[in-house]
Amino acid sequence: MKSITKLIELKKIQSKTKNWNSVGFIPTMGAIHEGHLSLVRQSKSENDITVVSIYVNPTQFNNRNDYENYPGGLDQDLALLTDAGVSYCVLPTYDELYSDRYRFRVNETDYSKIMEGKMRPGHFDGVLTVVLKLINLVKPQRMYMGEKDYQQYKLVKNMTDAFFMNIKIILCPTIRESDGLALSSRNERLSKQERGIAYQFYDQLLTNNSPEIITDELERIQFHVEYIEDHSGRRFGAVRLGKVRLIDNVVL
Ligand code: PAJ
Repeated sequence: MKSITKLIELKKIQSKTKNWNSVGFIPTMGAIHEGHLSLVRQSKSENDITVVSIYVNPTQFNNRNDYENYPGGLDQDLALLTDAGVSYCVLPTYDELYSDRYRFRVNETDYSKIMEGKMRPGHFDGVLTVVLKLINLVKPQRMYMGEKDYQQYKLVKNMTDAFFMNIKIILCPTIRESDGLALSSRNERLSKQERGIAYQFYDQLLTNNSPEIITDELERIQFHVEYIEDHSGRRFGAVRLGKVRLIDNVVL
């Protein structure tokens, strides 16, 4: 695997590589886990070249504390991606990615304003903007995204349709721990006690109870519920357990 820190290097590689027509791309914020690696595996089975980006995108964090405490560990990330057989890892810098200082941004006016977008104002503007920049730089034919962040997937897919972008967005299943907790970079910040009860979030989403009853049940066992909502055949939830925020969704 080759790491690319300067965008000019990426351009050079693209102009020298004849088969830049079978490229699968997985954008990430690092702290690589099995969820990310499952996207890599799917990309490798469908493309000649697999590109991963690692960039903790400041414009999508509405909470400074969350941004500053986002887990790092670049050496381990690069080792995991190398083992998984990734071809290129793109590691952009703020100065190169945001030479406009975020003067230009993608603003969706409807679906980005509910659930995650309501709880985290500006979050999806940051996500859509960075994903648009990364797609334009990497120039993949296919991009792989996790079902865990379904609202994000849907918005990215809608953006690529709205702007007639020549790319296929592929939704990949949520990878879970054996007790059902969805893998997430933020899980490592759960205390032992919190980790012990975290699985009940997923368990509750799977019940036939109403969102109101699920909210009551979770609040009773130490969760702070931000929302439990049903949309287009899915049930979405966001909760806080101590300092850690968890999101998940299931098909109804
Ligand atoms: P990040 O949270 O690192 O996630 C990168 C990709 O991995 C996303 O598509 C996400 O849905 C997927 N993913 C995370 N946990 C998963 C799991 N347990 N099972 C399956 N897939 C999982 O999402 C982002 O980064 C950023 O918002 C990004 C799109 C990179 C833009 O900055």
